[in-house]
Amino acid sequence: MPTTCVIGILWGDEGKGKVIDYLAAETDFVVRFGGGHNAGHTLVLPPAIAGEGKLVLHLVPSGIVHAHAVNVIGNGVVVDPIHLCDEIEKLQKRGLRVELGDNLLVSERAHVILGAHQRQDQLAEQSRGSGRIGTTGRGIGPAYSDRCSRIGMRVGDLVRPEALRKVLTALVEQKNALFAQAGIDLLDFDSMYAELIAVGEKLRPGIVDAGLALRRAQSAGKRILLEGAQGCLLDLEHGTYPFVTSSHSSTGGAFSGTGLPPHEMRTIGIVKAYATRVGEGPFPTELHDDTAERLRAAGKEYGSTTGRPRRIGWFDTVAVRYSGGISGAKELVLTSLDVLQGFPLKMATAYRLADGTETLDMPAFDLETVEPQFVEMPGFDENICDVRDFDELPQNAKNYVAAIEEQTGMRISTVSVGPGRDQVIQR
Ligand code: IMP
Repeated sequence: MPTTCVIGILWGDEGKGKVIDYLAAETDFVVRFGGGHNAGHTLVLPPAIAGEGKLVLHLVPSGIVHAHAVNVIGNGVVVDPIHLCDEIEKLQKRGLRVELGDNLLVSERAHVILGAHQRQDQLAEQSRGSGRIGTTGRGIGPAYSDRCSRIGMRVGDLVRPEALRKVLTALVEQKNALFAQAGIDLLDFDSMYAELIAVGEKLRPGIVDAGLALRRAQSAGKRILLEGAQGCLLDLEHGTYPFVTSSHSSTGGAFSGTGLPPHEMRTIGIVKAYATRVGEGPFPTELHDDTAERLRAAGKEYGSTTGRPRRIGWFDTVAVRYSGGISGAKELVLTSLDVLQGFPLKMATAYRLADGTETLDMPAFDLETVEPQFVEMPGFDENICDVRDFDELPQNAKNYVAAIEEQTGMRISTVSVGPGRDQVIQR
């Protein structure tokens, strides 16, 4: 199948960057279809490719490290154009080829995030008090809200001075009314306009009708990789609402966020061998003891965008089954199995609800009151980072993989045993 879609199965941070990186080697187009620079896709590459240290991509698709791939920021993404220019510059400084209009295209229909959206995001969080979502503070929600309210600015506006003037006038008026009420500094139209025109000039070669480019590529039989951001349980519609992001981060967004028509494709769900979450919201299998601390340290579980410590819990087959259904993923890549070395292997197989009944299905409400029902399996003490053949994994690790497959009904096609590009076991 020429199209592959990679989706985070729980709340993001499953290691999608690494999976996309190895799939991109065999792909013509790599496309982001939702979210913005709230995402952080981490790649650990040989120094010859991108210099020393890990590479964290926020907006530029992970295919950028492959010379042959065309990377597309689709219409479903919200683009902070200043951040994008900075990210491009940083990548170029690390020796990567990033050429707008050649190997990086930006949809003219994608919406723009302004500094004002970030201020609005932070204000909204403050006003939520104890009901705060724990957003990344990047302005994602307000930018998508403006899109829905039909007052948003699109990337194509950045290269149309008159259209930009019109849309910016309305936005400044609306935001200033809000900021005046909150008693914070007002926006200055002239400096914003000048800055946006300048950044539009920089991005101009890459601003295209990306949907058209992708449909043409599809007709020509090109291989397309759709790079999900965040995860199914952060999906605006299907996630743990209201503790979600503001985009359609499950497979549904892959069509609306690119302009590709729905078509048959291979959907791969990425899931960690334990569970994590950043930000607020229900997390049934969350751990609050010393095991969480140890797992966080072993897995280096700190947000790649905000640096926040991630919340840690056991594998949750109820949630994974649900996300499998929502996303259509038939296969899973199981990441960070190596991190479980020396830990018990535990997974939730059902939830007990407040009324005492048990369910195998994910409830839409009162998730914070469910009691996960766990099964525990013996763990493994061996270091598995260098294992490349599934049969050579410790028996207990193999049993765990088999139990996940049995509980979720999804095949684990790949197991990742470390952050490095080659640390994978294909089955
Ligand atoms: P927002 O996307 O900044 O509005 O944040 C909404 C929720 O999604 C918060 O709980 C964030 O921590 C979470 N979130 C957003 N992007 C990511 C991501 O890339 N990985 C994990 N969590 C994320």
